[in-house]
Amino acid sequence: MSKEIKDLKNLVNTEYSLKKLFDEAEDFLPLLGTDYVELYVGNAKQAAHYYKTAFGFQSHAYAGLETGRKDTVSYVLKQGKIRLVLTSPLQKGGDVNDHINLHGDGVKVVALWVEDARSAFEETTKRGARPYMEPVVEKDEYGEVVRSGIYTYGETVHIFVERKNYNGIFLPGYEKWESHYNPEPVGLKFIDHMVGNVGWNEMNTWVKFYAEVMGFAQIISFADDDIATDYTALMSKVMSNGNGRVKFPINEPAKGKKKSQIEEYIDFYNGPGVQHIAVATDDIVATVSAMRDRGVEFLYVPETYYDDILERVGEIDEDVELLKKHGILIDRDDEGYLLQLFTNNVLDRPTMFIEVIQRKGAQSFGVGNFKALFEAIERQQARRGTL
Ligand code: FE2
Repeated sequence: MSKEIKDLKNLVNTEYSLKKLFDEAEDFLPLLGTDYVELYVGNAKQAAHYYKTAFGFQSHAYAGLETGRKDTVSYVLKQGKIRLVLTSPLQKGGDVNDHINLHGDGVKVVALWVEDARSAFEETTKRGARPYMEPVVEKDEYGEVVRSGIYTYGETVHIFVERKNYNGIFLPGYEKWESHYNPEPVGLKFIDHMVGNVGWNEMNTWVKFYAEVMGFAQIISFADDDIATDYTALMSKVMSNGNGRVKFPINEPAKGKKKSQIEEYIDFYNGPGVQHIAVATDDIVATVSAMRDRGVEFLYVPETYYDDILERVGEIDEDVELLKKHGILIDRDDEGYLLQLFTNNVLDRPTMFIEVIQRKGAQSFGVGNFKALFEAIERQQARRGTL
């Protein structure tokens, strides 16, 4: 069987098993995918330069003083299907400053693309979601967008975006961002999953939220003994929407001999929030090597990780020496394997990082790598004195 057919078969199988899972219940919140991810940051202009230079994002849209905004400025970056919005305050006070003061730079909005933002708001709030934004119609010469929003864990929100009657660059109020500085993309295609860290004993509360309020189903669960090293432990459950396009693993800390990396996150972020954004590539070696050349720091993976790798994961298409050179991790499940690597924290506070992932059939999240990965993270925690 050719690789393409195999990949397709795996994809169909996954969609089929998810469909079976959801056939019982009508999908009251149909999601077309992730629409955009918005970070509140201290200095959006400089952050945009970093994500362009290091991660290969392209200048896409802009809103600020020049377009009639008074209090905030936003830069929209694009690569593949990923839209990243970076927003900073222009004045003292207000929600954006408060958010940055408490959390540092971090993800505020995980926006979801829907057919009907009014219905998404109604269906989720009537099931208990805390409203963030009542449905609002925004218009300009390119049409109209309807948006509404609800809170999820911590101060993070989901905004539902209905854009079927809009053909502008991003949202009403934004203009095209033309720049003479356009570094090459590094091959990031779409958001594979986004992980939330929540506090002690809160994982099941948020699993229940995604199940009951948003109609997601739990597809995977890891107990603390699956994901434990000598020092740190966590528990994780993965929630998926009906068509599998939106997947949210939820982590909570578990007791270890020393401080869990999830607890370290919660301490520095001052509460629950997005821990990492996983972005898909078709060629992880090329993507990671381009990112390294541009200054992205990845988690150090000990050479010993590769000693027994083929016994652990079986035959793979890639040259192990090349994977070892770039520190790329490999894991296998029933459906295939995956290649993944995590950046160091992309902020000064040890909070958020980025994962690069290439799936070759596998639909899981690299549980076999967690232990190797955590031992690597612990070496960094030890250097920060927070272990
Ligand atoms: Fe991940």
